[in-house]
Amino acid sequence: MTRKKIVAGNWKMNGSLASNEQLLEGIIAKIESSSDSLVIVSSPSPYLGQVSELVKNTTVSLAAQNVSQHSSGAYTGEVSLDMLKEFSVEYVLVGHSERRTYYSETDSIVADKVKAVLESGMKPILCIGETLEERQAEQTLNVCVKQIDAVLNTVDVSNFENVVIAYEPVWAIGTGLSATAQQAQDVHEFIRKHIATYNANVAEKVQILYGGSVKANNSEELFSMADIDGALVGGASLIVDEFVGIIKAAG
Ligand code: PGA
Repeated sequence: MTRKKIVAGNWKMNGSLASNEQLLEGIIAKIESSSDSLVIVSSPSPYLGQVSELVKNTTVSLAAQNVSQHSSGAYTGEVSLDMLKEFSVEYVLVGHSERRTYYSETDSIVADKVKAVLESGMKPILCIGETLEERQAEQTLNVCVKQIDAVLNTVDVSNFENVVIAYEPVWAIGTGLSATAQQAQDVHEFIRKHIATYNANVAEKVQILYGGSVKANNSEELFSMADIDGALVGGASLIVDEFVGIIKAAG
């Protein structure tokens, strides 16, 4: 089956009113309206209103980088699902390794967030992946299973038609050291087969992105792999020509 490719930019804690506008105008001017892939940008919370206006009536969709699992109330510093929806946010990154590592997001918090995002009608981009130590200890597949199963213990597998998975080996994020296309494909294929043990039909449909030092010059090979359905892009999503190059490679 052919799955639509997704190229999602994760701006992380970067940007300003001026640079966001420049970046988006550059991207929008250069992407082909005939492109079959879905382009998403994930902006920091304070800029969602601005970015939402800039992508209105374009083919670019908007994502948030995080959300609270709680609906409202005394959670100082947090952002709610309803707030995101007011700015036409369609996707939310959940469980990025930087959130897991620096902000102690456990598998159980990640599962609660995925559930809350789905219930709100938005789509989670569920990030999973192993650290270098885990890869060296040959725990890569076990880590991916543990992180996915935590979510599948909380939401029914049928929901995964609306979940995008991003496999991001932590050792490849921001290091310039991408996984090889074959290394990524091996894990993606394994993830799809694992989901198939719950529901084969859903497993065929679920979009699995690769993330970790994706650039214009390595994206084509990654996208040629059978189970790689796109990319979650950090650093290169802040550079017009790099991000557009990745979008073009996705077709
Ligand atoms: P990177 O980040 O492309 O800069 O490695 C990817 C990510 O963290 O999503």
